[in-house]
Amino acid sequence: MKVVRVETYEEMSSKAAQIVEQQIQKNNRSVLGLATGSTPVGLYENLIQGVKERGMSYRDIHTVNLDEYLGLSGTDPQSYRYFMNEKLFQHIDIDLANTHIPNGKATSVEEECQRYEAMVNEIGPVDLQILGMGMNGHIGFNEPGTPENSVTHSIELEPSTRSSNARFFDSLDEVPTHAITMGIASILKSKQILVLASGESKAQAVKVLLEGNVSEEFPASFLWNHQDVTIIVDKDAYSLV
Ligand code: GLP
Repeated sequence: MKVVRVETYEEMSSKAAQIVEQQIQKNNRSVLGLATGSTPVGLYENLIQGVKERGMSYRDIHTVNLDEYLGLSGTDPQSYRYFMNEKLFQHIDIDLANTHIPNGKATSVEEECQRYEAMVNEIGPVDLQILGMGMNGHIGFNEPGTPENSVTHSIELEPSTRSSNARFFDSLDEVPTHAITMGIASILKSKQILVLASGESKAQAVKVLLEGNVSEEFPASFLWNHQDVTIIVDKDAYSLV
């Protein structure tokens, strides 16, 4: 795992954008794996700037997102589909038909998980996967206890995950209890993985990750089993290492 230490959130975001843009310059038909949460927002702002100011184009780019809340439709402002449209897709020249996010309103959750996994395998492998990390080490919504061989599945969110994500909702009660997420094995199939970690609230998780013990109890630790992982960490997130 390559660790890149930077001072600030802004520096983390612009470094991450450089890596994404290099990938697109290498192959303008790349498949990008995208994440939600507040961590990648600055990266997305930089990518939008890249289209406006650096002539970047996403015309032939495909994207797959890691996860979606169960019970929320894509028009719900709290859904990850809505988030991605707002924070990135509607500001760049991507074809929305080439952007993929699990359907949180699917009638059969099991079938939706199978469909999504098969779709990722068909358009994949993902060339570059962006990841944030939960305070408990979750990636996507793979909570502690998720096995390394997991593929896209539905899960019950941990109380701590629901409360840390409650800031995006009016109240804790409104935070969905379940989600669909790509599994650990689905994520590890990506050719290259870029993890972003910023702020004091992630310092403990960064410390545990960099200790290097691989365990289901800390899902991000499975990233040690991949050949090409870079983590960009800002000063506050690195403060306990
Ligand atoms: C959510 C998402 C994850 C994300 C994590 C951290 O639970 N499912 O993909 O990495 O939150 O979010 P944040 O970046 O807001 O700290």
